[in-house]
Amino acid sequence: MDDKKLFIPLLLGTPRKNRESEDVAKWVFAKMQNREEIESQYFDVCDFRLPHDNYGQEIKDRFPEWRDAIIRADGLVIVTPEYNHGYPGSLKGVLDLLLREYVHKAVAFVGVSAGPWGGTRVIEACVHVVRELGLAVTFTDLNFPSVASKFDENGNLLDEVYEKRVKDFLDELIWMATTLRWGRQNVSSKFHQ
Ligand SMILES: Cc1cc2nc3c(=O)[nH]c(=O)nc-3n(C[C@H](O)[C@H](O)[C@H](O)COP(=O)(O)O)c2cc1C
Repeated sequence: MDDKKLFIPLLLGTPRKNRESEDVAKWVFAKMQNREEIESQYFDVCDFRLPHDNYGQEIKDRFPEWRDAIIRADGLVIVTPEYNHGYPGSLKGVLDLLLREYVHKAVAFVGVSAGPWGGTRVIEACVHVVRELGLAVTFTDLNFPSVASKFDENGNLLDEVYEKRVKDFLDELIWMATTLRWGRQNVSSKFHQ
């Protein structure tokens, strides 16, 4: 087993002004940076200038930083709010830029909502999308219900219960990403020759 750090970018999935999900994404990203097994990189859908006259893999080379990060990645963390029980269109627009680059890599979800379910519905909606991308989903999600009450005005998380939850979330992601990296390196597949 090689002991090189796992490269696991994080993607914040909403461009909404005053988005509460940004506090969540920054907090999770800081926790990822504290884990010695992981190297991460922060991506924000706001920074993708998606055109209105084209879509998908045809335009992936306009986003080389994202393309190269996913080529190199062992996994991905997606932080998404729940919008009408679904995902923001801009998140789908960014994910759809690539396809083969995701195959046999791990993905873990962080759901954010104003309501009491913590984005469980948006995560379920995302699962069938990422499956088609060839990503393998972890089963230990992080959920932030009633998100407006979770952080103070400086972005500090107010609820200590998340320390254990984020550890479990990252432990599972690291296991999946490590296992899949071993598989990509040692078990042949037409998807990663
Ligand atoms: C278009 C839209 C639809 C929304 N739909 C839901 C929903 O279905 N369930 C829910 O709990 N909250 C819903 N919300 C509230 C968001 O979950 C809330 O704004 C939360 O803070 C996370 O989103 P944010 O990062 O944009 O702040 C919706 C918000 C918007 C803007």
